[in-house]
Amino acid sequence: MVIKVSDADRGKFAAVKSAADLIHDEMTVGLGTGTTSELFIRYLGNRIREKNLKIKAIPTSVRTEQLARSVGIAVFDIDDLDTIDICVDGADEILSRECVLKGGGGALLREKIVAIEAQEVVIIADNSKLVNSLGCFPIPIEVTPFGCMKTRRNICEFLNQNLVEYSSLSLRRVDDVPFVTDEGNYILDLYISKTKQTKAIETSIEAPSGVVDHGLFIDIVNQIHIGCSDGCVQVTNCIFEEIEHKTVEMNGIYQFFGG
Ligand code: 5RP
Repeated sequence: MVIKVSDADRGKFAAVKSAADLIHDEMTVGLGTGTTSELFIRYLGNRIREKNLKIKAIPTSVRTEQLARSVGIAVFDIDDLDTIDICVDGADEILSRECVLKGGGGALLREKIVAIEAQEVVIIADNSKLVNSLGCFPIPIEVTPFGCMKTRRNICEFLNQNLVEYSSLSLRRVDDVPFVTDEGNYILDLYISKTKQTKAIETSIEAPSGVVDHGLFIDIVNQIHIGCSDGCVQVTNCIFEEIEHKTVEMNGIYQFFGG
C-alpha cells in the first residue's frame, strides 16, 4: 500500500516532534484543537507510553478530550489544577509572534482560556501558515446565540467607525444550521481585506455586548515552531527574541498517517 503524506503533513509532523521535546515528566499540558494538535496528541500519547511519563492534560475541546483519552493521556478539568506549565496548539495564520489567528475549528474560546492560564504558549504549524498580512482566513468571533444578529450589526458599526475594511461578516453554518461551539455559542466569521491593522480590528470586535471572544491571539504566544517538509523547524523564542533552526528526524511519520 502506498501512503501519501503531503508536504503540509510533513511540516506539521516536524513541528510536532520539535515541540514534543519541551514536554517533560510531571508537566501539566494544555492540548490544542485541529489537525496539527491531533498529531501532537497522538505523538505525545506514544511518548507517554514509551517513557512512562506522568502528564496531566487540559483539552481545549470535546474532540481533543476524546482523542487524548483514547491515546492514554490523563485528562483533567482546568479548575482542578493550579497551573498549566505549557500549552501546545495549532494556528490558522501566523503574522508574527505577537499576532496569531486561531479558531478555524471553532474551539477558540477554550483555546484562549487555556493559553492565558499557561506559563508557556507554543504554536505548532507547517510553513504554509506564515503570512505577511492577515486576510486569507476569516477571523472567527464567538457570540452568544441570543441576539447574535444584533451583535453582528453592532460589530459592523464598530468596524466602520474604526475604518476597518471587510468584505463580509457571516454566521458560520454546518449543513445549513448554525455551528454551535462546545460552550453553546455561535461563530461569526469576519472576512477582512489583507491587513496588519490588528489593533483596530481587535478594538472593533471586542466592543459589542454579545461578543464572547475572538480568534486573534495578540501577545499571548511565547514560542512558535514552524515545520517544513524536509524536517527543518524554525523556532521563534519570543522571550529571548532568538530564532533557532533545527532539523528533526522524519522517521516514524508513516505511523501517524495511516501506516
Ligand atoms: C481550532 C484552531 C486550530 O488550531 C487551527 O484551526 C489550526 O488547525 P489545523 O492544525 O487543522 O490547521 O484554532 O479552533
